[in-house]
Order: sequence, then C-alpha cells, then structure tokens
Amino acid sequence: MSGLRHVQVPLGDRSYEVVVGHGAAEFLGTVIPPSAKRAALVTQPGIPLDAETELELERFEIGVGERAKTLDTVGELCRGFARMGMTRHDVVVGVGGGMVTDVAGFAAASYHRGVPVVHVATTLLGMVDAAIGGKTGVNLPEGKNLVGAFWQPSGVICDLDALDTLPDREMRCGLGEMAKYHFLTGDDLLAMDLTDRIARCVEIKADVVASDEREGGRRALLNYGHTLAHALEVATEHRLAHGEAVAIGLIFAAHLANVMGRIPVERVDEHFAVVGEEYQLATDIPTGLHADDLIELMRRDKKALTGLTFVLDGPEGVEVVAGVDEAPVRDALARML
Ligand code: GLY
Repeated sequence: MSGLRHVQVPLGDRSYEVVVGHGAAEFLGTVIPPSAKRAALVTQPGIPLDAETELELERFEIGVGERAKTLDTVGELCRGFARMGMTRHDVVVGVGGGMVTDVAGFAAASYHRGVPVVHVATTLLGMVDAAIGGKTGVNLPEGKNLVGAFWQPSGVICDLDALDTLPDREMRCGLGEMAKYHFLTGDDLLAMDLTDRIARCVEIKADVVASDEREGGRRALLNYGHTLAHALEVATEHRLAHGEAVAIGLIFAAHLANVMGRIPVERVDEHFAVVGEEYQLATDIPTGLHADDLIELMRRDKKALTGLTFVLDGPEGVEVVAGVDEAPVRDALARML
C-alpha cells in the first residue's frame, strides 16, 4: 500500500517496526511475532478499529478514562489471560489510545513475567508518544503512572483511519505532545502532511529511546513540559487530559527557564506562538489551583531524585535540570496562576 511509512525503533534484538499511514492496520500480521498462536485483544468500548488477524482471538474490554488505569484493571486482565490459558507463545494486542496501550503493555509485561505485546494506536497521542518506546504502567491515587515497567512491543501500528472519528479534544491532546517535539528538534512539523508528521515524531522518539531505553538520561527530555502537566492532571482529578496538561506545561517550562535566566523572553514568546497560536492549544492553568499543591505534586515526580527537577530549555537546548529552588518555580507559577 502506498503512502505508508515504516519507522524502525533500533533496540538490538528487540528492534521493532512502527507502520504509519492510512490503512496501516492491514499490516498487523507483519508485526505479530511469528511464534504467536493466539491473541488477547485488549481494547475499550467505542474504539473505531479492530485487530484483523488470522490468530484465534479473545477480546477484553477495559474501562474508559484515567480512573480505570489502575492495578485492579491490570489484575482483571491478567485473570482473563489466565482463564484463556495464555502462554509466552501468545500475544497481547492493545488497540486504543495511550491508556489502553499503557495498561495492555503493563499486563503483558507482568503476566508470566512477560508475554509479547503489539500496539495498535488509535489516537494521535498514542501514535506520536504512548505506544512507542516501551513505557507501560498505571496510576495510583497518589500520582500518575507510578507503577509500571519498561516492556517494548514487538511492533506498533499507527492507522490514520482511526483519526477520522477522533473527537477534537483527543486530537488536541495529541497536538500537545506533538508541540513538544518542536522544541526538542526545531523541526517545522506543521509543514509536513499528517502521515509524515506522525512518522517524524515516531522517528524522533525512536532515536531518543534507542539512545536511552530506560531513562538513565536523554530519554527524560521526552518529558519536556510534563512535570507541571502530571501535577495538573492529578490536581484537576484528570479533568485536564494529558495532552492538554502538556501544552500548559510547555509554557510553564518556558517561563521557569526564563525566570532562571536560561532563555530570553523572546524564546518564551516562541513557545506561546507554537503551542497557543500554531497548535491552537489552551495555555492557561485552570482556575482554582494553588501553587503550594502544584509544587507538592511536582516534588513527587519520578524525575525528582534530587529536589524539584525539570526539563528546561537553555543555551545548549533542552536538558534535565535537578535541584531547582522553590523560589523560581513559585515565580513562574505566579505568572500563570
Ligand atoms: N512519554 C515519555 C517517554 O516515553 O519516555
């Protein structure tokens, strides 16, 4: 089929292919491990794509929304896998957005200490971020994605047909993550058509993941805008979706870098221009949130090993900055609250 892009995530003997384009789901069979005998399809009600595979297939539906992204959901799935007699010679196929692929991936990582998984991403956010790179996990009441595992898929399908019916809000969430890639690379992604743009985001992510699979360093750059974003998601009890929170988090990160003297105000304006104007995303922190609560939540961030830690722009580009004082964080928040 023409118009498809095939992007490699190069991880040695665990390398895999991401197929991007309209109709990519037809290629599902090419990324399922040849040894797989049966498939456990993990999806949600209303997902507009089904997994077309020759394999015997058992379907599992999980709940919708961050509130269902729990250890209980993983437990239920694993019990289902046990009832179907799943072995390491079968495959889990996660079909859905980031929530589905995170949960399906974690269940696959945990069941029998690891069974193969393939992701079919049906949202823009899933295609450019969540389904790629092997991060899996679930939330705790105390924070987002606090329990999880690195578990690389055997392949990923990004079928753009699924985006035809994607609600505007979900589309904006994907754009929030996409905007992040602008600042990591400086690429003019908006000049590309959607297939190329998604494939380019996958390529950028694949390059970062290949150089630092388990986030010992460089991979943390993919969390640009995410420290405040995760805090906002928890503080709003997930009324703010991940991509929406990332858009705001990118603006906050720019303010913080400016307060700390790392970037000039013109670069903050550039962040507004990309996120607010080009991508048309909301950049204000929702009303009713307080700096103290947000700072407390940011202290619980997984990156915060030595004090408040952020991914910040600077003269050398975007980098991880640990041990940030509370005062500049308060100043940057004050500009937005
Ligand atoms: N979403 C950030 C990462 O995969 O590392």
